[in-house]
Amino acid sequence: MQIMQTPFHLDKRIILVTGASSGIGRQVAISASKMGARLVLHGRNQEKLQETLGMLEGDNHQLISSNLLTEEGRNALVAQAPAIDGLVHCAGVVHPYPIRFLDQKKIDETLNINFEAPVLMTGALVKNKKISKNASLVFLSSISGQHPHKGGAMYGSSKAALETFVKVVALELYPQGIRCNCLSPGMVQTPMYEQAEKDMSKEEMDKHVSRYPLGPGLPEDVANAAIFFLSDASRWITGVNLTLDGGFLLEG
Ligand SMILES: NC(=O)c1ccc[n+]([C@@H]2O[C@H](COP(=O)([O-])OP(=O)(O)OC[C@H]3O[C@@H](n4cnc5c(N)ncnc54)[C@H](OP(=O)(O)O)[C@@H]3O)[C@@H](O)[C@H]2O)c1
Repeated sequence: MQIMQTPFHLDKRIILVTGASSGIGRQVAISASKMGARLVLHGRNQEKLQETLGMLEGDNHQLISSNLLTEEGRNALVAQAPAIDGLVHCAGVVHPYPIRFLDQKKIDETLNINFEAPVLMTGALVKNKKISKNASLVFLSSISGQHPHKGGAMYGSSKAALETFVKVVALELYPQGIRCNCLSPGMVQTPMYEQAEKDMSKEEMDKHVSRYPLGPGLPEDVANAAIFFLSDASRWITGVNLTLDGGFLLEG
């Protein structure tokens, strides 16, 4: 395959994508492979990971299936992964509950995967020297981290905590030339979006969607931004959080 040599290329870079079995993670993997990367696809659902694998350009991609909620699952990922030049951490869940319905179990079901898992996974990757010099790490946050919505107490808090973690990683790892940034999308058309369609009435959903001047996002919109952050085109950018929202926040 002929790779276009632009500062955005990912030629021969090894990129780990979590949440690669679905939605944004799947599209990040596809787009990164088109830019020449060698992908390490992570998720729990092996069948869906195989489907993603079948959509990639190039070869020598790797597939790792484990549960990021368990120490065993995180250790399996770290043990099987080669040293990586980039990470796009997309694994996450959204479970909206009004605060009166929150209990310990519901708090844990969001915070454990959206916050604790990436913290523990990143620590283990660093400890085991699985992040190469000059690598770029990208974490999926959400506009909900800075702009809370009703029912988003745990989701928004998990993303706000992740954003602070990312800044600390950027500070601790810059001596190795490692950069660390967040992407904060608004509503993107993935299975997570389809879940929101089920959770809301048609009127609520239509009203929400109408607040996006450029319409809801596509997984490709987020994947393109991830490629920018993974590539040398963003070599001077670390510790930032990029909003991708089709103008949603302009409306206040
Ligand atoms: N879609 C949106 O509107 C939107 C907006 C803003 C931010 N985001 C963020 O973008 C990221 C991706 O969202 P998406 O819409 O692509 O979601 P999605 O289609 O529901 O995919 C979620 C991914 O997370 C993985 N995952 C969940 N629990 C896991 C676990 N315990 N261990 C390992 N992997 C796990 C799933 O893989 P398996 O099922 O194979 O384990 C799946 O690949 C999330 O962090 C989300 O918060 C999404």
